[in-house]
Amino acid sequence: MWDIHERYQKTKKPSSKEEYLKLGDAEFKASFRAFFYDTFLNEVFLNGGRDESLSGEAALLLSLWRERGISETDHDCAFAKSLLAAVKDEHADCPFESDHLKPYIKELPAVGPEEKEAVLRVIHERRSVRAFHDKDIPDELLARILAAGLHAAHSRNLQSIKFILVNEKHEPWVFRGIDIPPGHHHIAVLQDDRCYQGSDEKSVMERIFDAGAATECMLLALHAYGVDGAWLTFNDGEQFPRLREKFALPDYMRIVDLIELGWGCQTPFPPQRPEVAERVIVRV
Ligand SMILES: Cc1cc2nc3c(=O)[nH]c(=O)nc-3n(C[C@H](O)[C@H](O)[C@H](O)COP(=O)(O)O)c2cc1C
Repeated sequence: MWDIHERYQKTKKPSSKEEYLKLGDAEFKASFRAFFYDTFLNEVFLNGGRDESLSGEAALLLSLWRERGISETDHDCAFAKSLLAAVKDEHADCPFESDHLKPYIKELPAVGPEEKEAVLRVIHERRSVRAFHDKDIPDELLARILAAGLHAAHSRNLQSIKFILVNEKHEPWVFRGIDIPPGHHHIAVLQDDRCYQGSDEKSVMERIFDAGAATECMLLALHAYGVDGAWLTFNDGEQFPRLREKFALPDYMRIVDLIELGWGCQTPFPPQRPEVAERVIVRV
């Protein structure tokens, strides 16, 4: 059971200053991200930002950001300012050579051979673990696991993902209604549906992918750190309403799925996987 709120399916991308001003701050910021990280950045990559209607829209969105009084030190606003300044930079042959974008262009070292193997080991050896010791995962480690979820790919970089993080000791039995005994910690993966307003990205499919990508990245991160967990979608229909009431979730915040996690006390049988050759149905 998935607690989607249909009214967030029905909005349209704003097409004028007045329509942008009608959005709440959360909707506006998501719409700003969709424009700068997707529409405008792609235009700058493909065309150097020469499309004047798009650079006009960029300037409008930045002025609306100021008009709304949102902090200009926000990282999305800082990036947007730098991108537009780079497009207008007469000293640079192309925007990506502009000093304005230098802080964002980092020379990353190539992934070394051992690191490559480690990444593939984490992918291949991760298992769903469904029984846990009564022992806390340190906060620092939990923060790293959540950060992995926030680094997942996300449609138009709308950044809709939020979390409820609960220690079973502090809220015993609140997560009941799943098909396994409660984990020592619970992560509920939430989605702020306001992020999909003010964007053309309204399909349920995109939303599920966004939450699924975040969930899988967290499962891989927790396995890399030696922690165990399982991805859960089953619930008895009473669990989501109970969580919603208990944690006073506003109606735009949707619960999508759960990760039950902790220090595992079970060595799961590894569900077998097919061979690649069996599964490639077209190869040309
Ligand atoms: C979308 C999705 C939903 C899942 N829901 C549940 C669930 O409700 N309960 C559960 O015990 N496992 C659930 N799982 C875990 C799968 O059963 C598990 O990934 C699968 O059996 C393969 O095992 P492995 O994760 O150890 O590779 C879910 C996995 C996914 C991807």
